[in-house]
Amino acid sequence: MTHIRKAVFPVAGMGTRFLPATKSIPKEMLPLIDRPLIQYAVDEARAAGIEEFIFVTAAGKGALEDYFDTAAALEQRLQQNGKTAALAALERTRMPEGTLSFVRQNTPRGLGHAVGLAKRLVGNEPFAVLLPDDVIRAPHGALAQMVAAHRETRGHMVATMDVPREQTSSYGILDVASEKGRLAHARGLVEKPRPDIAPSTQAIVGRYILEPSIFGRLANLGPGAGGELQLTDAINADLPDVGVNGYRFEGERFDCGSVQGFVQATVAFVMDRPELRDAFCMFMADRTAPLRNVA
Ligand code: G1P
Repeated sequence: MTHIRKAVFPVAGMGTRFLPATKSIPKEMLPLIDRPLIQYAVDEARAAGIEEFIFVTAAGKGALEDYFDTAAALEQRLQQNGKTAALAALERTRMPEGTLSFVRQNTPRGLGHAVGLAKRLVGNEPFAVLLPDDVIRAPHGALAQMVAAHRETRGHMVATMDVPREQTSSYGILDVASEKGRLAHARGLVEKPRPDIAPSTQAIVGRYILEPSIFGRLANLGPGAGGELQLTDAINADLPDVGVNGYRFEGERFDCGSVQGFVQATVAFVMDRPELRDAFCMFMADRTAPLRNVA
């Protein structure tokens, strides 16, 4: 049985939609409540059994590397001051030594290019890709659900969700050959098709399990949508040989690459936190009362 041990996190993007905040902070370090985006992706990967974490970074992303370091002086001070809750909060940033690697993308040439840079670190085994912008709130981590399904299917697997047809041009879209439960067998993938030519409304969400054959395809990839090297195109090129399944995960996805999605995710996660929820609901009820009266 192949165990998915490695995950690639493409984190080289500039985060222009969050300027000026992202002028000096990587967008993956922006916090949803009190945890940076990257923490949600890493937690989801760990819950799926991932043991090695490969970050494709770029200039200005140093804070991401520091975040997973042991903060000896800070921990000592918290210990001395008896701040046990604060110490416990640091627990989830602790990664076993030697399990993180960083590879640099020097030019922003697209997601396909970024994933291709992880080739040497991944080697010849199936691996996961997680886009930290896509935050998934799920009873069981979305990647863990996919890993379980992949044991049966093999081949490439992409997470999917249904989107309104007018939004197809924001996503990779599946051309669905057949469906069984949460699985959709694809006969093709198209990156960001216009709504009138999109083959379906089943969209790719930023979770992938890829066979190592993808690296050969990535190496030979020409520019696709937006002039970038698209991961979707590489998967599509490999489809006749390897097979591709969409997996309609159980859970709710937030597009934290957009300000609106980020705010919505913040609210959703506040509602999961009993110590924050009640006061927040009262505050919102108060704030939204005038709007409701108008309606
Ligand atoms: C990327 C992928 C796209 C996928 C999306 C999910 O696009 O290229 O296929 O649907 O992530 O978030 P991006 O949002 O980076 O433009």
